[in-house]
Amino acid sequence: MDLVDLVPAPRAVEGPHRCGFALDEGTALCAGPGTESTARVLRATLGAALGLPLPPVREPGGGNALELRLDGTLGPEAYRLTVAPTHGVEIVGGDPAGVFWGVQTLRQLLGPDAFRSARLPRGATRGVPALVVTDAPRFRWRGVLLDVARHFMPKGDVLRYVDLLAAHKLNVLHLHLTDDQGWRVEIERHPRLTEVGAWRPRSKWGHRDSPYWNETPHGGYYTHDDIREIVAYAAERHITVVPEIDVPGHSQAAIAAYPELGNTDVVDTSALGVWDDWGVSPHVLAPTEHVLRFYEGVFEEVLGLFPSAFVHVGGDECPKDQWRKSPAAQARIAELGVDGEDGLQSWFVRHFDRWLAARGRRLIGWDEILEGGLAEGAAVSSWRGHAGGIAAAEAGHDVVMCPSPDVYLDHRQAPGEDEPMPIGHVRTLEDVYRYEPVPPGLSEAAAAHVLGAQANVWTEVMQDRGRVDYQVFPRLAAFAEVAWSALPAPADRDFAGFERRMAAHYARLDALGVDYRPPSGPRPWQRRPGVPGRPAEDSPTNV
Ligand code: ACM
Repeated sequence: MDLVDLVPAPRAVEGPHRCGFALDEGTALCAGPGTESTARVLRATLGAALGLPLPPVREPGGGNALELRLDGTLGPEAYRLTVAPTHGVEIVGGDPAGVFWGVQTLRQLLGPDAFRSARLPRGATRGVPALVVTDAPRFRWRGVLLDVARHFMPKGDVLRYVDLLAAHKLNVLHLHLTDDQGWRVEIERHPRLTEVGAWRPRSKWGHRDSPYWNETPHGGYYTHDDIREIVAYAAERHITVVPEIDVPGHSQAAIAAYPELGNTDVVDTSALGVWDDWGVSPHVLAPTEHVLRFYEGVFEEVLGLFPSAFVHVGGDECPKDQWRKSPAAQARIAELGVDGEDGLQSWFVRHFDRWLAARGRRLIGWDEILEGGLAEGAAVSSWRGHAGGIAAAEAGHDVVMCPSPDVYLDHRQAPGEDEPMPIGHVRTLEDVYRYEPVPPGLSEAAAAHVLGAQANVWTEVMQDRGRVDYQVFPRLAAFAEVAWSALPAPADRDFAGFERRMAAHYARLDALGVDYRPPSGPRPWQRRPGVPGRPAEDSPTNV
């Protein structure tokens, strides 16, 4: 099988044959019912890049046409792309998403210039070899988490990442919107969450052990209209945006904005600011009715902005020291009859589990939420290795596999001094390519609960778009193949073949302006000499 340099690899390619078809100014675009938005995106991307007007026609007859249509006999997100020498290109999808993924394949077949934003004066290749690509995804959740809390990612950069996900056939954008170091979504009824919580006066420069500070104030947040725009832009690209509001830990920014949300009988929370350091803050939400009502208000606005079936409530890394010391928290434990501080955390998460379910949504949270038992329908993001995911799947819960040792893209890509602010394990392009989301030994019934996989981009040491690009690429291309393609067992994967296809893919990333890590190592300006990271040698760890 010749994969004609496609990334991620498709299921099957018939061809390519020596003849082909060239799109030109006369090529008509025939968009069948259900494919209209893909036609719009296609004109705006491919059309602009190659200088093709793609005039609309109702019927594809007469040749020289690009036809998009649905065919219910194909599966969800599946497509078949046919290039016929005299007729043109036909993309048939099992649903509108399938047609959209087929268009992404056509874009790759047209060559790197198809990824530019405008046509070059020298013109661009518009030829496609005659072939038939038959394709469908392995997993239905092919996700990327962007941590826009530790370092804010301006709206334009988020939209650009939506495009980058789409080009790699990834379909879930998990936005980590709140943390100790920042609150990034406007909540109209609680304006101080962004007035106070959306910025900090300075930031640690490097890992938390670093002696350096960046004294520039850092911040930003998305208005309701920003979020509506991001969600709509993603939806046109068949990407679901899953919001995360992290409770009851990782909440110092919220407590800085509204001190009554904290454990006021233990600490003077009125003196607290948004955290300027990295790590896990001890300042967690108080287990009060007031806090529950406050966050119900937050989630009400979140549900109005994000139509996703899943809503992420965090639930990870909630230090229990303040609850242990707090008479109010201890009284709450006694009143609820729960099992100590761990029981209190479960009570907190289960409250929002029921609250979301009553509103037709499904809770998803980090694997710590499993510890107190979960309601039917709730799902788990397995980040502390595979164990949480296995336990959840065996208990009948859906899981998204995103284990920190394997697919945390903040972890360094190579050993040595050259990697900028190196943290975590060495996870090379090949390591990511050989990542397997379904753990061996999982029963068939449990394996069916693995919705898919997600690469997590935590941004403590990624201050800007260039740093994010460097950590994410090229590894996201390997991850996309893991999530989309029907790869064999890790040891049998053809990494050399993937690297050969990557030669073509780097040219696409260049055309897109992605600051990826070159295979030979960082460019001089991608290094951060002397800024301490925290490389991990043996134990899997987050920063
Ligand atoms: C996490 O990395 N704390 C989910």
